[in-house]
Amino acid sequence: MSRTTEDGFGRDAPRLSVVGLGPGDGRYLTPGARRLIDRCSLLIGSARQLACFPDFPGEKRTFGPSLAALADWLDAHAELTTVVLASGDPMLYGIGDYLARRMGAENLHIEPGISAVQYLFSRLRLPMNEVYLASSHGRAPDFDFLLSHPKVAMVTDQHIGPHEIAREILARARPRVMIIGENLSYPDERIHRLPPERVARHYAMNVVVILDAR
Ligand SMILES: C[S@@+](CC[C@H](N)C(=O)[O-])C[C@H]1O[C@@H](n2cnc3c(N)ncnc32)[C@H](O)[C@@H]1O
Repeated sequence: MSRTTEDGFGRDAPRLSVVGLGPGDGRYLTPGARRLIDRCSLLIGSARQLACFPDFPGEKRTFGPSLAALADWLDAHAELTTVVLASGDPMLYGIGDYLARRMGAENLHIEPGISAVQYLFSRLRLPMNEVYLASSHGRAPDFDFLLSHPKVAMVTDQHIGPHEIAREILARARPRVMIIGENLSYPDERIHRLPPERVARHYAMNVVVILDAR
């Protein structure tokens, strides 16, 4: 018989949860995420993420040197009710996939969040239907493959960001327009719609959407 009650978690909060925070601004934190954070005794995240919960009464820990070290630490502290914070949605280029595989999917709860990608499409009033989702965060994308799709959304990092993506488009002479969403949901959010030749060298934390310009 299912242990689930109307709050979705059964009588007890799950021991280990990976909780999506949404794009950043607290308005996009879901009630489910809030409830898990309120019920846990240990919160793990980046310094920036932890700072979003100044009144949290339990223990806070920043991520250690690696995901493997974090997983070992979680194994050794299985008695604690722990929430690991993830930006956006934990299962879109987030920590959820690694922890589900490493800890065993049945040993953790994943609480979805609003991805920065989803947020940008809503701001653009553009359907996400048929979008190809990709990331340059810590990896080198195959741009020949990516640019074979008419609608691509990418999370990026400081090594391969809008400027490098624009250069890859120009090198292939593809008719594309780029939309760059910086600091999405924060007060300094900026959204630029540009042809690749006009993309600047530096942007703050961003999501890039690449659309066929024809
Ligand atoms: C490791 S990925 C995580 C993506 C996340 N799981 C999601 O669903 O949005 C981190 C990247 O997401 C993007 N990102 C996350 N939050 C953002 C925001 N508020 N504004 C712009 N980009 C954001 C950036 O490209 C950042 O480098």
